[in-house]
Amino acid sequence: MKFIFFFLLISIAAKSDLIPNQIHPLHPKSGSSGSHVPQINCLSWRLAVETNNIQDWTSVPLQCEDYVGHYMLGKQYRDDCYNIVAAAIQYAKSLKIGKDGKNVWVFDIDETTLSNLPYYARSDVAFGSIKYNDTAFDEWTREGKAPTVPAALFLYNTLLSMGIKPVFISGTKEEFRQIRITNLNKVGYHSWIRLILKGVNDTGSSMKYKSRKRAELVKDGYRIVGNIGDQWSDLLGDYVGQRTFKLPDPMYYIA
Ligand SMILES: *[C@@H]1O[C@H](CO)[C@@H](O)[C@H](O)[C@H]1NC(C)=O
Ligand SMILES: *[C@@H]1O[C@H](CO)[C@@H](O)[C@H](O)[C@H]1NC(C)=O
Ligand SMILES: [Mg+2]
Repeated sequence: MKFIFFFLLISIAAKSDLIPNQIHPLHPKSGSSGSHVPQINCLSWRLAVETNNIQDWTSVPLQCEDYVGHYMLGKQYRDDCYNIVAAAIQYAKSLKIGKDGKNVWVFDIDETTLSNLPYYARSDVAFGSIKYNDTAFDEWTREGKAPTVPAALFLYNTLLSMGIKPVFISGTKEEFRQIRITNLNKVGYHSWIRLILKGVNDTGSSMKYKSRKRAELVKDGYRIVGNIGDQWSDLLGDYVGQRTFKLPDPMYYIA
């Protein structure tokens, strides 16, 4: 893990060497700092991650694991989610919603409508994908105990009351369909026009997969008026929707 992060920094440094006419650092590097772990400002790191300035990261920097844990479990994460949802609702209220039933809002599931925080907070897992383990994560999914992201449930209920229909597009495997439906129902989601899960033939990146599924919606005559997810790959690509909303997720990155 230390190695991966160090490698990341080295590759950033290597890339910046390629920039011509680079301004020289004010403090020349002292020659002897080879094994020194550089300090990192975790709030700056999180901001860069959320704004998609840092991409393709494979794990939370070691020095920021505690920071990310406190952020996710604390008030700031909830406040950030509610602030985003307030903007989404304000936007939705500005729309002229026709009565043809074709206006849809795309929701991602993991870390958007359902939270895997109890899983990531387990002492043997740690925050970030550092110790990410497919088998263990599937076991957690199978438990069907994921709580809601309260702000997203509020958005979901508000949109339903306005006549905007929810569509779920998730990277969850098709084999978990019944478990996920039960889990969604249990925490308050019980109405949607489509629940799209990843079939065995849905290969390729998440961004491409979700783009294909949104294209099918549009082909079937739906208007995607909004789209909310915790990953940039939920919100970039084709047919992303009239507006997209990015929820925070400094725990992992999915391309
Ligand atoms: C992944 O999780 C499974 C189930 O909890 C466990 O048996 C396995 O040892 C774990 N693998 C690693 C590499 O930690
Ligand atoms: C996946 O693709 C294979 C080969 O084309 C096909 O036989 C199978 O029915 C597909 N499975 C699903 C669930 O679509
Ligand atoms: Mg997600």
